[in-house]
Amino acid sequence: MARYLVTGGAGYVGSHTVLALRDRGDEVVVLDDLSKGHAAALPAGVALVRGRCGDPAALDAAFAQGPFEAVLHFAALSLVGDSMREPMRYLRENLGNTAAVAEAAAKAGCRKFVLSSTAALFGFPDRVPIDEEAALAPASAYGESKLFCERALAWAEQVHGLRFATLRYFNAAGADPQGRAGEDHEPETHLVPLAIDAALGLRGQLTVFGTDYPTPDGTCIRDYVHVSDLADAHLRVLPLLDQRSVRYNLGNGTGYSVREVIETVGRIAGRPVPHGLGPRREGDPAALVASSAKLRAETGWTPRFPALEDIVRTALDWRQAHPQGYRGRAAG
Ligand code: UFG
Repeated sequence: MARYLVTGGAGYVGSHTVLALRDRGDEVVVLDDLSKGHAAALPAGVALVRGRCGDPAALDAAFAQGPFEAVLHFAALSLVGDSMREPMRYLRENLGNTAAVAEAAAKAGCRKFVLSSTAALFGFPDRVPIDEEAALAPASAYGESKLFCERALAWAEQVHGLRFATLRYFNAAGADPQGRAGEDHEPETHLVPLAIDAALGLRGQLTVFGTDYPTPDGTCIRDYVHVSDLADAHLRVLPLLDQRSVRYNLGNGTGYSVREVIETVGRIAGRPVPHGLGPRREGDPAALVASSAKLRAETGWTPRFPALEDIVRTALDWRQAHPQGYRGRAAG
């Protein structure tokens, strides 16, 4: 049993990782300002320090609850579209907060750090699947901000001896298979929850962003990876940090088009997804599919829910149980 600090632990990927840590008996302190996250997403027995990562007092309060075996840093701004409207805010907040948390960790004597990174580092890749050797060429301020964060950690390693793992997530989707947590963003911009809500009549029809991509059916291809499998990858990289820092791409290695997702959601929900066809969304690459061969080989990570059907089913189950998301649910 060990003790971990999880920033952004009340958010989507963070809360599923908190569950994974608790399930194996670890102690968890969460630092989250609840601007996006939900206190109700935290399981019982988790201490919440409510505050911003860039606030020295909040960091002091969080690290006072240590010592921590590692910090898992999820808290970040993460919307590609927003980042193109407010690029400096994304760069300032994501880099500033990562640097502040890494600095506080080193000061507290905690020298293991896991960073939520992103496939957006790769911009418009010229081939898929994308492995760790692919060129780093972000096409959004969001992707650039996470590249800055990765680079900041390399300095923290060189100067402070902090070891880090960066996990470049592809498209996180799905919900805790036991129904304890799910996806609840405001605003929601992601395909799987929007398609589910359209099928359930919880919101209006979905718009397909672009049908003229150079893909078999003309719509974008993405690698959807179950959020609990993402969480598991965080646990699996931790032991490596005794030896070295690591960078991994994290996806299933299978791509599905927007039309295939819509068809799958309709089939699993038993109701078609009302949708219309629209123009491309700016900044969307045609295809993003991960090679996670390195992660699999070096950590033994194997996704438990690689099938899109299972990803959709868990997301649908959670949404049907929580049509208003976390609103109205008590914490714990
Ligand atoms: N899409 C639609 N209609 C919608 C919403 C999405 O057609 O209403 C399409 C998008 O154009 C894209 C696909 O569905 O082709 C997936 O879109 P998401 O918004 O669900 O996810 P993204 O691929 O844009 O981005 C996600 C994360 C990013 C991360 C990226 C890495 O939100 O933070 O995956 O792959 F960088």
